Amino acid sequence: MFESIPRRVRVVEVGPRDGLQNEKAIVPTAEKIAFIDLLSAAGFGVIEATSFVSPRAIPQLADAAEVMAGITRREGVDYPVLVPNEKGMRRAIDAGARVVAVFTAASEAFTRANINMTIDESFAAFRPVVALAGEHGMRARGYVSTAFGCPYQGAVAPEAVLDVTGRLLDLGVYEVSIGDTIGVATPDQIAALVPRLIALAGADRLALHLHDTRGTALANVLAALQLGVGTFDSAAGGVGGCPFAPGAAGNLATEDLLYMLRGLGVETGIDLDAVVRAGAFLGKALGRALPSKYAQAALATMGDAP
Ligand code: COA
Ligand code: ZN
Repeated sequence: MFESIPRRVRVVEVGPRDGLQNEKAIVPTAEKIAFIDLLSAAGFGVIEATSFVSPRAIPQLADAAEVMAGITRREGVDYPVLVPNEKGMRRAIDAGARVVAVFTAASEAFTRANINMTIDESFAAFRPVVALAGEHGMRARGYVSTAFGCPYQGAVAPEAVLDVTGRLLDLGVYEVSIGDTIGVATPDQIAALVPRLIALAGADRLALHLHDTRGTALANVLAALQLGVGTFDSAAGGVGGCPFAPGAAGNLATEDLLYMLRGLGVETGIDLDAVVRAGAFLGKALGRALPSKYAQAALATMGDAP
């Protein structure tokens, strides 16, 4: 029944950034570094490491430069960092980042709350970022938040998502990650939007970034796989969300995603047990059990890892 899905999928680990930005506790820098190093050892090709945004907006990631200086970068692994504007880009360059991610949204109301800009203004802010990336031989990824619903304006038209995606591609990003920031999407919405996104971007330049707020993330992944999507963002332990999206708890947990992909016979190159250990390490740092269902089941039988 699932013969047509991609045989290999890229999993982009976003826990160190999307996960930690929404935690009340500020994780000590050394523990962030240890968490990222555990993830590097697990076999990810891409680990979003931190954000060079305003420390007033996201105090949890104010130590971005120290994190970038402290991690052990593995050969062949990308460590993208979130950058909202030229100031953030200069900080990212100074910190030795090689890949950045710019982010806007399909909803004006969310863009205003998140980065205090209109969508047009966000593109004006990205232009110098992408130009600097080119000058420094760096690559840029793009995010479209609130693609399936907005906490402030409600419904979001597919045309708005397609429009913003097209503008990011025109800017020269290598991939656009389409975000269900508040975790409202159901598979019918995936089926309605993804074929149009693939027609616009090509499947190899498209990623889905799903939150599991209402428990629909894996169902949405399965729908997207059947439509040819081959890249998914997720966070170890299922931590995270955007502080400017009220109630948007919980990225899709990497462990849950990997378990389903393994069952479907899809290769990722990532060691699921190693991700469980990385998530358990983060849970200890945060002082709580993390939401990943697979990790909870695995830890109950593995004993007290790591
Ligand atoms: N890094 C560090 N400081 C920055 C910065 C950056 N990338 N961008 C702006 N600042 C500083 C400015 O220097 C200024 O500091 P000052 O008041 O001490 O002079 C202050 O932040 C305000 O700058 P301004 O350009 O007026 O920005 P703003 O207040 O309109 O905020 C953003 C715009 C984009 C900087 C801010 O909203 C932001 O960082 N948002 C990120 C939100 C986020 O990460 N959300 C999660 C992702 S989904
Ligand atoms: Zn997210």
